[in-house]
Amino acid sequence: MTVARESDLVLLIGPRGKRFIIRLEDGATLHTHVGVISHDAIIGKPMGRRLVSHLDKQFLVLEPSTHDLILNVRRQGQIIYPKESGYILLKMNVHGGQQVIEAGSGSGGLTLALARAVAPHGRVFSYEIRPEMQRNAARNIREVGLEDWVEFKVHDIAGGFDEQDVDALFLDVRTPWEYLDQASQSLKAGGFFGSLIPTTNQVSRLLAGLEHHGFGDIEVEELLLRQYKPVSERLRPADTMVGHTGYLVFARKVVMLAEPSDDSV
Ligand SMILES: C[S@@+](CC[C@H](N)C(=O)[O-])C[C@H]1O[C@@H](n2cnc3c(N)ncnc32)[C@H](O)[C@@H]1O
Repeated sequence: MTVARESDLVLLIGPRGKRFIIRLEDGATLHTHVGVISHDAIIGKPMGRRLVSHLDKQFLVLEPSTHDLILNVRRQGQIIYPKESGYILLKMNVHGGQQVIEAGSGSGGLTLALARAVAPHGRVFSYEIRPEMQRNAARNIREVGLEDWVEFKVHDIAGGFDEQDVDALFLDVRTPWEYLDQASQSLKAGGFFGSLIPTTNQVSRLLAGLEHHGFGDIEVEELLLRQYKPVSERLRPADTMVGHTGYLVFARKVVMLAEPSDDSV
């Protein structure tokens, strides 16, 4: 049984599924439109239970998942949603101990998923050209306690990346094909390249660039997610769905080894 402790992150789900993520603090209170909840009513008690607000409305008390934390980031612009970030982690083999570069940091949506995956021995190097964007991303990452696994850099990636031989590199910028020289220089041989772009003409330009730079195992994919109304007697899809987020492009860096000439053998 997991017991909630002071400074833990807790997810509260109220009536109609409204979600709140709080960091527990002695004596603090959460004010919602359906009543007040005292943090002290959660601290020292088990997670995974129900409690009631002072207006007698029920809340679930849960540990937040990575999915919950990503949806909770303070957004300035489009983030990479869990639908894609979960798949990106698997496709690009991001796991504990890996060194990963991403650009741009944006709001830190993907950074959060990467940092949770590489901890405790890996590192994420997150590049962003706009300082104010990166300040917000860094705050989002600090708020979930992942700052030890992320190095933020305010830097135009046109100037290249500082790291060499990284395991994976993800570009979430409008013109990723412009940075393939830089990506190639920082990836290890066989390293994973990934990008998310919203339009097919961007995909075509990126594909041409990847071919030109000799990348291998190139793939273009799109993920569709349909949610259902979870009512046992009349199970059916939700009325609306997110029709499009972006296309995912993946590739591996491949190097040409100089073949020994016949007379050198
Ligand atoms: C779509 S947002 C990234 C969102 C992020 N992946 C997330 O999940 O929150 C794209 C970001 O790339 C940054 N960017 C664009 N061109 C860049 C460049 N040349 N160098 C570094 N960052 C750049 C933009 O300022 C913007 O914040």
